[in-house]
Amino acid sequence: MHFVQLVLVLLSALLASAATPTRTITVRDSVHPPSSFVSTDANGNFMVNGSQLTFVGTNAYWLPTLNSDEDIDNTLGNMSAAGIKVVRVWAFNDVTTIPENGTWFQLIANGTTTLNTGANGLQRLDTVIQLAEKHNIFVLLSLTNNWNPLPLLDNITDSLTSNITARDVTQGTNNSLPRNTLSNDYGGMDAYVREFGNDNKSHDQFYTNPTVQTQFTNYVTNIVNRYVNNTSVFSWEVANDPRCNSSLPSSATCTTLTITQFHANISSHIRSIDPNHLVSSGNQGFFCADCQKLFFKAPPPPTTSATPVVKRRAAKPLTKKRLLAERKAAQKEARKFEQRTASASPGGIKIRGRWVSTATKRQDSADQGVGSAFDGSSGVDSEDISAVPNIAFSTFQLLPDQDNLDFIIDPSLPAFNNTVNGGINWINRHAEVGTILSKPVVLLAFGLVTQANAPVFVPFNTTVAPFGPDSGTNQTTTQPFGVTDQQRDDAYAQWLQAGIQGGLQGMLQYQWTQGNLSTSTGTVISPTVTGTGISPEVTGTGFSPNDGYGLQGVGYVIWARAFSDILLTIFAILSNAQTQAVGVLQQAAQAFGPD
Ligand SMILES: *[C@@H]1O[C@H](CO)[C@@H](O)[C@H](O)[C@H]1NC(C)=O
Ligand SMILES: *[C@@H]1O[C@H](CO)[C@@H](O)[C@H](O)[C@H]1NC(C)=O
Ligand SMILES: *[C@@H]1O[C@H](CO)[C@@H](O)[C@H](O)[C@H]1NC(C)=O
Ligand SMILES: *[C@@H]1O[C@H](CO)[C@@H](O)[C@H](O)[C@H]1NC(C)=O
Ligand SMILES: *[C@@H]1O[C@H](CO)[C@@H](O)[C@H](O)[C@H]1NC(C)=O
Ligand SMILES: *[C@@H]1O[C@H](CO)[C@@H](O)[C@H](O)[C@H]1NC(C)=O
Ligand SMILES: *[C@@H]1O[C@H](CO)[C@@H](O)[C@H](O)[C@H]1NC(C)=O
Ligand SMILES: *[C@@H]1O[C@H](CO)[C@@H](O)[C@H](O)[C@H]1NC(C)=O
Ligand SMILES: *[C@@H]1O[C@H](CO)[C@@H](O)[C@H](O)[C@H]1NC(C)=O
Ligand SMILES: *[C@@H]1O[C@H](CO)[C@@H](O)[C@H](O)[C@H]1NC(C)=O
Ligand SMILES: *[C@@H]1O[C@H](CO)[C@@H](O)[C@H](O)[C@H]1NC(C)=O
Ligand SMILES: *[C@@H]1O[C@H](CO)[C@@H](O)[C@H](O)[C@H]1NC(C)=O
Repeated sequence: MHFVQLVLVLLSALLASAATPTRTITVRDSVHPPSSFVSTDANGNFMVNGSQLTFVGTNAYWLPTLNSDEDIDNTLGNMSAAGIKVVRVWAFNDVTTIPENGTWFQLIANGTTTLNTGANGLQRLDTVIQLAEKHNIFVLLSLTNNWNPLPLLDNITDSLTSNITARDVTQGTNNSLPRNTLSNDYGGMDAYVREFGNDNKSHDQFYTNPTVQTQFTNYVTNIVNRYVNNTSVFSWEVANDPRCNSSLPSSATCTTLTITQFHANISSHIRSIDPNHLVSSGNQGFFCADCQKLFFKAPPPPTTSATPVVKRRAAKPLTKKRLLAERKAAQKEARKFEQRTASASPGGIKIRGRWVSTATKRQDSADQGVGSAFDGSSGVDSEDISAVPNIAFSTFQLLPDQDNLDFIIDPSLPAFNNTVNGGINWINRHAEVGTILSKPVVLLAFGLVTQANAPVFVPFNTTVAPFGPDSGTNQTTTQPFGVTDQQRDDAYAQWLQAGIQGGLQGMLQYQWTQGNLSTSTGTVISPTVTGTGISPEVTGTGFSPNDGYGLQGVGYVIWARAFSDILLTIFAILSNAQTQAVGVLQQAAQAFGPD
C-alpha cells in the first residue's frame, strides 16, 4: 500500500520538476571526447560519458573481506539488480599483527608500515573493483576511518599504557565478533596515532603530526596509484567520519580549521597524483555557524534578478542568528501546544534515547547555543570542507540513532515523525550547501535502527552491541528501542524523496545485506560464534555484517525486493524527469537560435 503512495508522491515530484526544470544542459566540448571518469560540471552535477549521473547507492565496507570471488560477484549482481549504481567500501584494513586468516591491507607495527599486495591483501580490493565494473557499479573508496576502538581497551588509560594491539576474539566474551565485522574494526586514524603519534596521544595528532601524516600519505599514494586509471572508482574519500576525537581524546588545540586544512592538504596530494578521479570527504555533515572559514564564502543576500537563474533551490547562509530564530519559533509553537494540551507532553525521543540527547536537552541548549551539530564542537565544518577547491562534492550522513543532529522537536508530533522531519530538514540544509558552492551533494549513509536490529546495533565508537544479550544488562527490556520495519520504510521513502526534490545527486543507504555467503574461518563470514550478542538467525548462515542497519532476518527477502522496487521506481522517475527537463531546456535553447 505505501509503495503505491510513494509512487504517487514521486510522480508529483516528477511533475514539479518537469514544470520547473532544475538542470541545465552541459555544452559538449567537441575537441575532448566526454570522459568515462566521473567528473563534475559547473552546475553541480556529476558527469560521465557526457551524461549526468544521479544515483541511489549503498554501503558495504566489508566487501573486500569476502573470501570467495563468487560471493563478491553475487553481491554486486544483487546490488545492480536493485538499481544500485554506487557502493561505498573501505579501501583500508590496517592490522598491528598479521592475522592467521582473513584479509589485511596494511601492517602498522614496529615503527613502520607494510603494504599487503598479496592474495589476501589488495588483490581482494582489485577483485571488488573488477567485478563492480562487470555489474556497472561505481565503487566509492574510503581511505581511512575516524573510529577504531579496541575491544577491552575502551578504557583510554589502558589503551595508552598497554601493548595489547590485537582484537580479542576469545569465544564468549563481549569481543568475540569476527575481525572486520564492525565498520570500526579496520584500523584507521587511531592505529596510525598509536604507532607514530607523540607520547601523549590525542586523536587529532592524526591530522597534525608530520610522521603520522607521512605514513598516511604513503598509504594513500599506494592505493591511488594502483587504481589511477580505473573508471569504476567513483571517488577517493579522504576519511570516514573525520573528527577531532575518537577513542583517543581530542587535544585542546583541535578545531574545525585543523580538519579543513587536513582535507585541503590530502586532496591536493591526491589530485597531484591522480587527475582522473574526484576527491570527497566522508564527514558526517556537522556545521559550524559563524565560524572562521578557510575556503567557504557565504553567499550574498538573495537579490531579485531579471534573468532567472536555474538553481536547485534558494540558498540562505547558515548563521547562528538564523538557527536561533528557527529554534525560537519552534519553541514558541511548542509552548503554545503545551498550553493547549491538558496532559503535558513527555518529550524526548523514547524510541531511542541512549545515543542522542533528549529533546528537552536540545531545546534547553537552544537558549544558549545552536547545538553540537551546528557549533563545530566535533571539529567538523562541512561547509568549509566542501568548499576546499580539490574537494569535488559535498557529503553528509543521516544516522540519527548515533549522531546528535539537533533536530527541532515538535511536541505535537510522535517521536518518529520528528525523526523523519528532522532528517528532511538535515537533507535540505545540505542541499543548500551544494547550491551555494555549485557542487554536487551526496548523502553517504542514511539509516534507522529497527526493533529487530536493536540487539545487534553497535554505534561506531564502541565494540559491543549495547542492547545485545551480551551487553551485561538486559536493556532490551528496560529500554524499548528502534522503529518498526514499516516506519523504516516510510522514513527512507520520505528521505529519498526529499533528497530528489532538494537536488541531491546521490543517496547511499546504510547498509547492504547479503545472504548465502560462504563461511570461512577468520573472515567476517564466520561459522556460528556464540555469545556475541548476535541473534541466531543472523550468525552462522553466511550473512554479511550487520551493525544495526542490515536488512537480514525473517523480513530480509521481502524487504530487499521492496527496497529494490523503491529504487527502480525512483530511477525510472529520475531519468524521465531529467529527459523532460533537458527537453524543455533544449527547446528553450533552440528558441534562442544557434550560438
Ligand atoms: C562510458 O563509456 C565507456 C566507453 O564506451 C563504457 O565502457 C562505460 O561503461 C561507460 N560508462 C558508463 C557509466 O556508462
Ligand atoms: C544474487 O545473489 C544470489 C546468491 O545469494 C545469486 O544466486 C544470484 O544469482 C544473485 N543475483 C544476481 C542478479 O546476481
Ligand atoms: C616487531 O618486532 C619484534 C621484535 O623484533 C618482533 O618480535 C615482532 O614480531 C614484530 N612485530 C611485527 C608485527 O612484525
Ligand atoms: C582504566 O585503566 C586504568 C589502568 O589500568 C585503571 O587504573 C582504571 O581504574 C580503569 N578505569 C576504568 C573506568 O575502568
Ligand atoms: C607487552 O608485551 C610483552 C611481550 O609480549 C608482555 O610480556 C607484556 O605483558 C605486555 N604488557 C602489557 C601491559 O600487556
Ligand atoms: C560484557 O560487557 C559488560 C559491560 O562492559 C560486562 O558487564 C560483562 O561482564 C561483559 N561480559 C563478558 C562475557 O565479558
Ligand atoms: C595510467 O594512464 C596513463 C596515461 O595513459 C599512463 O601514463 C600511466 O602509466 C597509467 N598508470 C597505470 C598505473 O596504469
Ligand atoms: C596530554 O593531552 C591531554 C589532552 O590534550 C592534556 O589534557 C594533558 O595535559 C596532556 N598531558 C601532558 C603530560 O602533556
Ligand atoms: C507520522 O508519520 C506517519 C508515517 O509517515 C504518518 O502516517 C502519520 O500521519 C504521521 N503523523 C503525524 C501526526 O504527522
Ligand atoms: C560514543 O559516542 C556517544 C555520542 O557522542 C557518546 O555519548 C558515548 O559516550 C561514546 N562512547 C564511547 C565508548 O566512546
Ligand atoms: C531480556 O528480557 C526479556 C523479557 O523478560 C527476555 O525475553 C529475554 O530473554 C531477556 N534477554 C536476556 C539476554 O536475558
Ligand atoms: C585459520 O584457518 C584454519 C583453517 O580453517 C584454522 O584451522 C585456524 O584455526 C584458523 N586460525 C584462526 C586464528 O582462526
